[in-house]
Amino acid sequence: MKNKNKFNINLLCGEKNIHLRSASIVDLENLRNWKNSERNYFFHQSVIEVEQQRSWFDSFYHRPNDYMLILDIDGASIGCMGIRLLSNNEWDVYNVILGVASFGKQGYMGRALTAMLQMARSENDFPIKLKVLKSNPALNWYQKNGFNIEYEEIDHFGLRYQNKTSKEFQS
Ligand SMILES: CC(C)(COP(=O)(O)OP(=O)(O)OC[C@H]1O[C@@H](n2cnc3c(N)ncnc32)[C@H](O)[C@@H]1OP(=O)(O)O)[C@@H](O)C(=O)NCCC(=O)NCCS
Repeated sequence: MKNKNKFNINLLCGEKNIHLRSASIVDLENLRNWKNSERNYFFHQSVIEVEQQRSWFDSFYHRPNDYMLILDIDGASIGCMGIRLLSNNEWDVYNVILGVASFGKQGYMGRALTAMLQMARSENDFPIKLKVLKSNPALNWYQKNGFNIEYEEIDHFGLRYQNKTSKEFQS
C-alpha cells in the first residue's frame, strides 16, 4: 500500500471477482455522485460540485498515507472506501459507499472493507477508527464487520476496529 496509486487486489466472493483498486481521476464523477446521493449519512452534507471534487482530488493525490479505493465487479465500478493515517497515528476509515444499490446486501462491501483494513494494518499496525452518525444504519454494519463503539458524542459514535467480526465473537 506504500504507493497510493498501486493498490490492486482481487478478492473471490462467491462466483464474483471483486477488484479493489486505487481511485484515479476517471473515478471522480462516480465518487461525486455516490457521495451526493448518500450525503445525509455523512458529516459533510452539502452537494459537491464538479470543481470541488476535482480540487479534493488534487489535494488527496499529494497527501501521503491517504487511500481511496474503488470496487469493480465484472468491470463495473460499484462502490468506494477510504482510509487515511491521521497525525495522532490512528487510521481513519472514511467515505465508505455502496454506489450501485443492486450490488448491496451480498457481502461485497464487507469483504472489501476487511481487505482494506488488512492492507492498512500491514503497512502500520496503528488503531483503526471511524466516526458514524447516530442516525446512520451503517453503525450495525460496522459492528458486524469487527468495529466496537469506543465513545459517544451528541450526534455520532466513535468506533474502533477489534479485528474480529461479531460472528467470530459468537463462535
Ligand atoms: C454501509 C454500506 C456500505 C453497506 O453495504 P452492504 O451492501 O449492506 O454491505 P455488504 O456488501 O457487506 O452486505 C452485508 C449484508 O449482506 C448479507 N450477505 C449476503 N450474502 C453475504 C455473503 N456471502 N457474505 C457476507 N454478507 C452477506 C449480510 O448478511 C449483510 O446483511 P444484513 O445487513 O442484513 O446482515 C451501504 O449500506 C452504504 O453505502 N450506506 C450508505 C453510505 C454510508 O452510510 N456509509 C458509511 C458512512 S460512515
